[in-house]
Amino acid sequence: MKRGSFNSKLGFILAASGSAVGLGNIWKFPFEVSNGGGAAFLLMYLFFCFVLCFPIIVSELAIGRNTKKNAIGAFKKMGHKKWNFIGKIGVFCGVLILSFYTIVAGWVLGYVIEMLAGNFSISNNFSEYVNDVDKILIYSTLFMFFTALIVSKGIANGIEKAAKILMPSLLIMIIALIIYALTLPNAIDGIIFYLVPDFSQINLTVAGNALGQAFFSLSLGMGMLITYGSYVDKNTNIINSAALITLTDVGVAFLAGLIIFPFIFSSGIQSDGGLGLIFEVFPKIFEGLGSITGTIIGSIFFILLSFAAITSTISLLEVPVSFLVDEYKVRRKFSVWIVALIILLIGIPSSLSQGKNDFFTNFITYYGKEESIDFMTFITDVSNDTLLPLGGFLITIYVSSVWKKSNLSREISKGNKSYQGSIMEKYINFSINYICPLILGTIFVLTFFNKFFGFS
Ligand code: PFF
Repeated sequence: MKRGSFNSKLGFILAASGSAVGLGNIWKFPFEVSNGGGAAFLLMYLFFCFVLCFPIIVSELAIGRNTKKNAIGAFKKMGHKKWNFIGKIGVFCGVLILSFYTIVAGWVLGYVIEMLAGNFSISNNFSEYVNDVDKILIYSTLFMFFTALIVSKGIANGIEKAAKILMPSLLIMIIALIIYALTLPNAIDGIIFYLVPDFSQINLTVAGNALGQAFFSLSLGMGMLITYGSYVDKNTNIINSAALITLTDVGVAFLAGLIIFPFIFSSGIQSDGGLGLIFEVFPKIFEGLGSITGTIIGSIFFILLSFAAITSTISLLEVPVSFLVDEYKVRRKFSVWIVALIILLIGIPSSLSQGKNDFFTNFITYYGKEESIDFMTFITDVSNDTLLPLGGFLITIYVSSVWKKSNLSREISKGNKSYQGSIMEKYINFSINYICPLILGTIFVLTFFNKFFGFS
């Protein structure tokens, strides 16, 4: 069976950036910023992305391209089958993420329909809306259906083609919304709130959240980039690609804040900045714009979110599919639909956890905490804030002590002739050997005990 590949470098960059740019950037990032001391959070986040994550992105891509295998098979191909547990953790984590991501994407899809119909009052009944589980599951199934349809068409004809259409459209919508947002009254207050640092807000919880957010947003630590890297040819410059992916991801997250905060401040609506922000507050803001402008801006906003989400769900689905196709020679189409169905089923508890079902709504109380948390939050804690940084940490250990930096360098220098001996090479090697394992390991251990065992 012939393995798929990306047709062009641009196609690969768009697909990988599409994976990175997602609900994490537009739904989660601005909210984390506002809770984490504005620009103080932003600075820490940039440090994590460029200093800690960048060398791991490069490593994942290099492992993928070197082996031309999926996240699990890659380790065996390199002769280190024992280490394929890193890939196994990754695939498991990807399945968890996709299970709740599809539910949130379903909420978003439903909102596109509501906004097109001018039904702004939906925001008053957000909790009723998410607990209309039958309806949400229809939206989520529809979303998964589109995702699976694209993935079933393969790398060049499915994933790459979709990214080439969706990513430029996404950028146009973002720019249009920023221009509009900046013309609103009091927009500048929103920008000030967003960008003036408050360093007193930084603590271990915030640092842990920033780290988890960086990994989640960059789609890092679960073998997604091994998988996409395996579809890339030897002429591709891995360093430049990793830089472009990181810049696009950080850039879009930053730009999303330039939309979100001016809108909030100009509306004068008080918000606690929770994750319901864009669902509960934004329709009210759109309503205030008048029915025609509100319908247009509101629809663009939620279409933008759906586009961002689908390029991410595509990559999340590709990880286990690629594993089945490579390792068990299962036909792509068949594995796509089977995996999609299984993940939809795994997502049902998440959809029930927003109040509909008591067991999943009050799923667990962490040691030392008083309040219970719901199943979806628990899954995000386990996957985003725990397994992804752990995966990233294990990859650095694997590269530095098993695969060895000479092999990493050799792989990177294909397609980047001046890499060996360059400052970039020294930087990547030093980070992979010392900075990443040390800082990542420390923050990971501290936040793990902080989150689950109340250690402070
Ligand atoms: N990066 C995506 C986001 O920010 O929404 C989420 C994600 C996609 C995580 C793909 C992991 C992944 F493999």
